[in-house]
Amino acid sequence: MDFQKYQQAAEYIKSKISAQPRVGIILGSGLGNLADEIANPTVIPYSEIPNFAHSTAIGHKGNFISGTLGGVPVVAMQGRFHYYEGYPMEVVTLPVRVMKLLGIEILIVSNAAGGINPNFHVGDLMIIRDHINMLPNPLIGPNDENFGVRFPDMTRAYDRELIALAETIAQEQKLTLQKGVYVSLTGPSYETPAEYKYWQTVGADAVGMSTTPEVIVARHAGIRVFGMSVITNEGWHFEGDYTNDGDEVVAAANAASKRMGALIAELIARA
Ligand code: HPA
Repeated sequence: MDFQKYQQAAEYIKSKISAQPRVGIILGSGLGNLADEIANPTVIPYSEIPNFAHSTAIGHKGNFISGTLGGVPVVAMQGRFHYYEGYPMEVVTLPVRVMKLLGIEILIVSNAAGGINPNFHVGDLMIIRDHINMLPNPLIGPNDENFGVRFPDMTRAYDRELIALAETIAQEQKLTLQKGVYVSLTGPSYETPAEYKYWQTVGADAVGMSTTPEVIVARHAGIRVFGMSVITNEGWHFEGDYTNDGDEVVAAANAASKRMGALIAELIARA
C-alpha cells in the first residue's frame, strides 16, 4: 500500500483528536466494551476513515476511539479486521501503521482464543509470551522503509518489561494469569480435535484467528507490544457432546472483559 494512504488515514484522525496518543489498543472479539472505560472519548467509525475497511466479524464493532485510559492518551480499535473476512494482509494491518503515524510507542493487542494447554479453562487470561504465525506474513512484498527494515527481528516480539509489569499488577490485583504461546490460524472454521492436539504438540497454548499480523507490523515499526488472550473455549477436551460455538466464544470474552480492562488500564498507567 502507498505510504500516502497511511498518511491520509492518519491526517483524518489527527483532525478529529486533540492529544497525541502514546498507546494503541486493539480490542478483540467480545472485548470491545473495554472501550467504555476510555475517558473523554472521540469515536470515529471506520467507515469515515480514508482507506479503512469495515469490520464484519461477530462481537466486533467498527470504531476508532481516542481518549485517555489511566490518564494516558490512547487510541483504541473497537473491532479489528481478520484475514478470514477476505481482506488482504495490508488492509488487516493498516490500522497499526496509522497508529504509528499518530505517534504510539506501545501497542496492546487482545483476542479471544481457544485454550489448548490442558491447564487452561474458560475465562482465564493469558499473557502472550510468544507466537507462532501461521497466517501469511503481512510484510511480504516490497519493504516500506518509512516503517522499518526488510528483515525485522522477532526474538522478543512481546516486550519483556511490559510482561513483568503485568505480572506485578496481577499479583497486586490478586488476579491469576496464564502465560503462553499463541498460534494464529486462518479460520473461520474452528479446529478439529486432531488439529487442537497438533498445535498443542508443536508448542502452542492457545489458538486464534488474529493478532500475529498486527504484532509483526508493529514490531517492524519499532512499537513495543503487549498481548493478552481471553480463553473462551477449551480445545483440549472433547468429551461428551462438546462443540465450539461462536456465540459462546463472544459471551465468554464479554464475561472476562472487565477483569482484563482493569489490568490493562493499570498497565498503561504504569508503562
Ligand atoms: N480456535 C480458533 N480461534 C478461536 C478459538 C478457537 O478455538 N476460540 C476463539 N477464537
